[in-house]
Amino acid sequence: MGRPYVFITRKLPDDIVAPLCDKYDVNMWPHEHLVVPRDILLQEASRAEALITMLSDRIDEELLKQSPKLRVVANVAVGYDNIDVEAAKTYGVIVCNTPDVLTETTADLTFALLLATARRLIEAAEFVKGGKWKSWSPLLLAGTDVHHKTIGIVGMGKIGQAVAHRAKGFYMRVLYYNRSRNIEAEKTLDATYCSFDELLRRSDFVVCLTPLTNETYQLFNRAAFAKMKSSAIFINAGRGAIVDEEALYDALIHRRIAGAGLDVFAQEPIRSDHPLLQLPNVVALPHIGSATKETRYAMMHVCCRNVMAVLEGKEPYTPVR
Ligand code: DGY
Repeated sequence: MGRPYVFITRKLPDDIVAPLCDKYDVNMWPHEHLVVPRDILLQEASRAEALITMLSDRIDEELLKQSPKLRVVANVAVGYDNIDVEAAKTYGVIVCNTPDVLTETTADLTFALLLATARRLIEAAEFVKGGKWKSWSPLLLAGTDVHHKTIGIVGMGKIGQAVAHRAKGFYMRVLYYNRSRNIEAEKTLDATYCSFDELLRRSDFVVCLTPLTNETYQLFNRAAFAKMKSSAIFINAGRGAIVDEEALYDALIHRRIAGAGLDVFAQEPIRSDHPLLQLPNVVALPHIGSATKETRYAMMHVCCRNVMAVLEGKEPYTPVR
């Protein structure tokens, strides 16, 4: 019997994959910035015992059905909406993600995005570099305060709580909405649970950090934006498809809300001529929530450890339950 075959859908650093290469036949899609084409993914998966995947790879019934040797899919992300977890269960494939290691880093980015949107940092930086700065003036690039305002966090998981922690440092009132109440967060972060509608009505900053599921798909729709304050800023660091982007665009253009900071989009990469990107009150980032070198290395490392554990017949470290 040959060594197990492991396919990695993106070029990862050599030192990260070295422990895998010592034990298994490892093949890596050679491009760092290009998604592996579907036909190659299907072909590779059909002979692999393990896959290390990115959130841009669709791991669905079609793939699982024709991958008889597959035992584990380790996704380099905490979110796993790109994977049909139920189908994986049916085919006896273990799915792993990368929780915990990215919590603080993603919370940093989420809060940075909130600050950047509120204080118009990107516009201001472009203003200086574009040679437009002629004088100090009282309302030049005036944004809105963050401190002492109300933040409404939708999705009070680990990242939500880490964002709440940062918000407390800015003396903010913290509201949250979650599938179930998080009593720990209420105690330690003085966070107040409220209904989705109440959160929308009361928050100055509405922050979306909930996972994408059938229930949260387009949770932020026309009706949701209509309930928000006209001065509110919407931040999305969860998943793009939780938002009806047309409804968001209309809310922004008609000034039903004041601005949006978006790290995620329904279609990624978002096309540069997308209407949302033409608005000055939108700060857009290329899905970099967990993108620090330390954290991305840690995420890749967790994936490799999960693959090795499963291929050695052990319990994986971070399986999706
Ligand atoms: C995740 O891990 O789900 C993030 O979105 C990746 O940055």
